[in-house]
Amino acid sequence: MKITIIGTGYVGLVSGACFADFGNNVLCLDVDARKVEMLKAGSIPIHEPGLDTLVTRNFAAGRIAFTTSYDEAVEHAEVIFLAVGTPPDEDGSADLTHILSAARSIGQRLSRPVVVVDKSTVPVGTADAVSQAIRQELDRRAARIDFAVVSNPEFLKEGAAIEDFMRPDRIIIGSNDEQATKVMRQLYAPFSRNHDKMIEMDVRSAELTKYAANAMLATRISFMNELSNLAEALDADIEAVRMGIGSDPRIGPHFLYSGMGFGGSCFPKDVKALLKTSVDHGRTLHLLKAIETVNEAQKGVLFEKIARHFGGRDELYGKTIALWGLSFKPNTDDMREAPSLVLIHQLLQAGCRIRAYDPVAREEAGRILQATRAECLRSGQLALVASSSEAIEDADVLVLVTEWKEFRAPDFGLLASTLRSKAIFDGRNQYDPEIVRAAGLRYYGIGRRN
Ligand code: UGA
Repeated sequence: MKITIIGTGYVGLVSGACFADFGNNVLCLDVDARKVEMLKAGSIPIHEPGLDTLVTRNFAAGRIAFTTSYDEAVEHAEVIFLAVGTPPDEDGSADLTHILSAARSIGQRLSRPVVVVDKSTVPVGTADAVSQAIRQELDRRAARIDFAVVSNPEFLKEGAAIEDFMRPDRIIIGSNDEQATKVMRQLYAPFSRNHDKMIEMDVRSAELTKYAANAMLATRISFMNELSNLAEALDADIEAVRMGIGSDPRIGPHFLYSGMGFGGSCFPKDVKALLKTSVDHGRTLHLLKAIETVNEAQKGVLFEKIARHFGGRDELYGKTIALWGLSFKPNTDDMREAPSLVLIHQLLQAGCRIRAYDPVAREEAGRILQATRAECLRSGQLALVASSSEAIEDADVLVLVTEWKEFRAPDFGLLASTLRSKAIFDGRNQYDPEIVRAAGLRYYGIGRRN
């Protein structure tokens, strides 16, 4: 099939590369000429395992191409995916400027029937707004061309996006148009072989499904984080509780891991946007407000533990803290809403020195921190170093912030002889407290006995 993807961000690029790999002819459009030039030259602007190979292979085979031209992009397609950003507005609602401008650009050029697909996470009612924007442009030039707008939300996880796309657990098709549904079924058939992964529904239910999925997962995390704080007060271990409840098939084992709070470009934004939608419709989802509040508080939990370890905030001045991991989760360089940023600001505020290491997010972290903490970077109070062993040099304690694989099995004996204050703060409950203690280190986890 001939597919155009508008937006070469995370979702657009992964979708485009995967569709191309299944033999479709894909044209990706981005208004950012620099990005398009990079892609044409074989350079991938984001870190996602496997994406590089996939794009290169399909580019060489002529199945994926890149352009900045709407004329070319609209002319090319039987199906047009909208995968542009929907950043949060000041009030938390999703900003639809890019989506609607893409819709108008399509309407201005459409010359034959097409299916337009909302792939970005967009509030309920957006497909109608997109439809209206295209219709207005067609009316303006008195063109009578059939088109349908369907909702096909994506459920990719950063770091596992290719696998999630190639082997989805469900493909949601929200359509009020029979012909468009047929086209979507045909397009996704190769991804749904042997099992019927397609769930068809009306457009608005599909739009709501996407928010409901992320809000449900965020609910589980905030619930576990709040419970972990209670577990500490009760001298219980949240890890045992997690296994105890996760074995109930009605609950299931996933997304029950306590940590430093959820980050990333999706959960925080989507919880906010759904809350705003509910308020706007006079049906406030009070639970969502609580999820946000718990998550914000959770990002500060580790700082409090570190302060207590040293005998209070005032005692933190001049201490050197080693951080392992900066990205909001492993296998990505994405720093959006990363809990590490909150911890870094708190530690710097208290006068600590920081030596931080991340396997891939060093550059991205540097770029972001340059904007807010340039002075600390210049003075060396905040150092972004090149290895995990460099991070612990001259450090008082170690904090595990992101659970990258390479941090899973450290040499605890070496840590015990290197860290001046002999303590590990495990923000992701990755280590066995007994093993850590046996090496002569103090262990602090989340929701575990200290
Ligand atoms: C999330 C969803 O998992 C995807 O299904 C969805 O498509 C995507 O958002 C999106 O809307 O685009 P993502 O943000 O990439 O994916 O990352 P997750 O793996 O879901 O992790 C989100 C955050 O939750 C991370 O900060 C992670 O550390 C945290 N988390 C996750 C926990 O604290 N505990 C858990 O048990 C699981």
